[in-house]
Amino acid sequence: MKLNSKPTICLALFLFVCVKLNFAQTDKNIELKVSNLVAKMTLEEKVGQMAQITLDVLGDGQPFKLNESKVKEAIQTYKLGSVLNTSDNRAMSTAQWNSIVETLQGKTKTTALKIPLIYGFDAIHGATYVSGATFFPQAIGQAASWNRQMVKDAATITAYESRAASVSWNFSPVLDLGVNPLWPRIWETYGEDPYLVAEMGKQVIDGYQNPLGNKNHVAACLKHFLAYSDPKTGKDRTNSWIPEHYLREYHLPSFRAAIKAGARTVMVNSALINGMPTHINGKILTDLLKKEMGFSGFVVTDWQDIDNVYKRDKIVATQKEALMLAINAGIDMAMIPYEYKDFCRDLIALVKEKKVPMSRINDAVSRILRVKYELNLFDVPVTVSSDYPMFGSKEYEQKAYDATAESVVLLKNKGNILPLNSSAKILVTGPNSNSMRTLNGGWSYSWQGEKTEQFASKYNTILEAMQNRLGNSNVSFSQGVAYKMDGKYYEDSIVDINDAVVKASQADYILLCVGENSYTEKPGDLNDLNLSENQQQLIDAMIKTGKPVLLVLNEGRPRIISKFEPAMAAIIDLFIPGNFGGDVLADMLIGKINPSGKMPITYPKFVNALTNYIHKPSDAQSNPQGVYDYSADFNPQYEFGFGLSYTQFEYSGLSTNATSFDSDDTLEISLTVKNTGNKTGKDVVQLYISDLVASLTPDVKRLRDFEKIELNAGASQTVSFKLPMRELAFVNSNNKLVLEKGEFNIQIGKLQQKIKVKETKIR
Ligand code: BGC
Repeated sequence: MKLNSKPTICLALFLFVCVKLNFAQTDKNIELKVSNLVAKMTLEEKVGQMAQITLDVLGDGQPFKLNESKVKEAIQTYKLGSVLNTSDNRAMSTAQWNSIVETLQGKTKTTALKIPLIYGFDAIHGATYVSGATFFPQAIGQAASWNRQMVKDAATITAYESRAASVSWNFSPVLDLGVNPLWPRIWETYGEDPYLVAEMGKQVIDGYQNPLGNKNHVAACLKHFLAYSDPKTGKDRTNSWIPEHYLREYHLPSFRAAIKAGARTVMVNSALINGMPTHINGKILTDLLKKEMGFSGFVVTDWQDIDNVYKRDKIVATQKEALMLAINAGIDMAMIPYEYKDFCRDLIALVKEKKVPMSRINDAVSRILRVKYELNLFDVPVTVSSDYPMFGSKEYEQKAYDATAESVVLLKNKGNILPLNSSAKILVTGPNSNSMRTLNGGWSYSWQGEKTEQFASKYNTILEAMQNRLGNSNVSFSQGVAYKMDGKYYEDSIVDINDAVVKASQADYILLCVGENSYTEKPGDLNDLNLSENQQQLIDAMIKTGKPVLLVLNEGRPRIISKFEPAMAAIIDLFIPGNFGGDVLADMLIGKINPSGKMPITYPKFVNALTNYIHKPSDAQSNPQGVYDYSADFNPQYEFGFGLSYTQFEYSGLSTNATSFDSDDTLEISLTVKNTGNKTGKDVVQLYISDLVASLTPDVKRLRDFEKIELNAGASQTVSFKLPMRELAFVNSNNKLVLEKGEFNIQIGKLQQKIKVKETKIR
């Protein structure tokens, strides 16, 4: 609809004002309900609201059964406010979920105040713990699509399918920056760039929450606030050393954008910043998040993390002291998750001893109740799966397939060896070649993803998809190396490399699928970024056959491939693509899909050279001087933003609306993109800008916007960007946002143009 006539504009304005008024009304109503309810609550009831337990505390068995007396004690006696997780670490059907949540919510109705529970789980790439749910690529792959709408659609479907299971709170998205390739959760992030992560985060919040209170949506939980992903050791839940201006410049923007977009809950970084456990860091949780950023939702701890303050971090000697520090720092809800009686006893005592002010408790409880009202849980505490006919539907599966198609990155295609002829004879080999588990990764049907084969058997592994596309007679199989299915994720063993060598001699190509088995969190810690010895042996043996090797990477983090990369004919990074990874790969190999993913992280070339694309001029001194050659300082295998297509795109005609600006101006940029190849394809036009001189050494370049477009062979399109100049400001060493006068360089592909900031109000 075009709003071009006066009456239409008036009507639109009127509607806008009504909607605004209505929102204000709703907010006011909710605030009134919250304060009325808090006024009626006993201290015991308030403390109960602040406690979250895991489902296993309330029952047992397989299939899981709630235990009447345990439920009664937790909900009636202790009046607990929240439950998380699945039971027995495995997915359940929507019917099982409905029945469990119905019983629990039913029990809250027998309490004096009838406050519903808020039930949460980790629906990271689809509703993880709901059997039959639609699974999308893990976040790193979604980011590699650089497709905002697609990321939103995935979130919308995930919210719908979580609600089909009566769960209304999702511990997602992870908005940590994926900057450390060793960190075992880099694949749960949307990559290493603050802008890309913020853009994807906004889409996810929109998809999960909009509109909140409707039965198809869930409350999002931003995690893990703040800087969880950047530990110095690279190991999960360890300390990071980060100055405040760096925190603000790089780690904060994604969270800031998501809170501005309305995200209702935040989960805390399970580790430490500068030696201080984040769970007791009032500067981060209260001063920054709640006061400065105006966050009005609630803050939940990560798993058992109040205990970690004394047990792991040795900050205090007792649980009670840790609890006091955490609640006073700004924790609203504790993911206990087992021993809730101690929590309730100690917090009640702390309030009575005046070590935790009642005002803090009232604030925490108000925040929790606010979100419960916003979610409409008082009226609709439970849903029924029959109201969700689209759950696991073909239409949703098609969305997941399409998302996967855009999430895969073609990294090498020597002599345009791809796409292949569909009559080609192929040997499929490698530990990732016949596994649904590796395609889905952690947070799939269970925490570590080890039960995936049981739940995802209807989908195709890479081998099965290749057989379906090329016919059994054209596809041979020899696994070569296998992961230990009941061991540590990094354990693998040689199956029979000779068999693979023999079968390779009868094939035209070798499809070599390597990478990692599934993992997440601490169990996924890593000591060596190289691929395992056994996988390297298989790779060497395949290279020696002389047959063209098409290398498929199915991994959660960039394992080093530089030693054998030159010998590869093609390289495809699947990341962790989900249930449609096999089908998409096969379709891409035969040209049914034209690759369009771009790297959301830097792929390092050496284990000890892990510089990100955002780095300082000193990190890349490409100025060889005599015998000293510094040109290899910044030497990634593949740069952030890189990815090939089966067609080519040419950029021309870069122009700007002016060449000199002040801080209130908007920079407008446009250029022409042409598909000069002979296939329809999608391109991601990436806008980078460099601040050429700054009082704090500037980043070499920064992503400031992007647009994904589709062009038919031979077609052209104008692409435009509008960037408020204030977006070019940076946080200086006094923690102030500043935009300094001087020259900036715009870079889009190989096109470049300089502009100037002549006047600035951001100081
Ligand atoms: C993880 C969180 C997760 C929580 C609940 C923790 O161990 O760090 O990301 O949301 O468990 O499952």
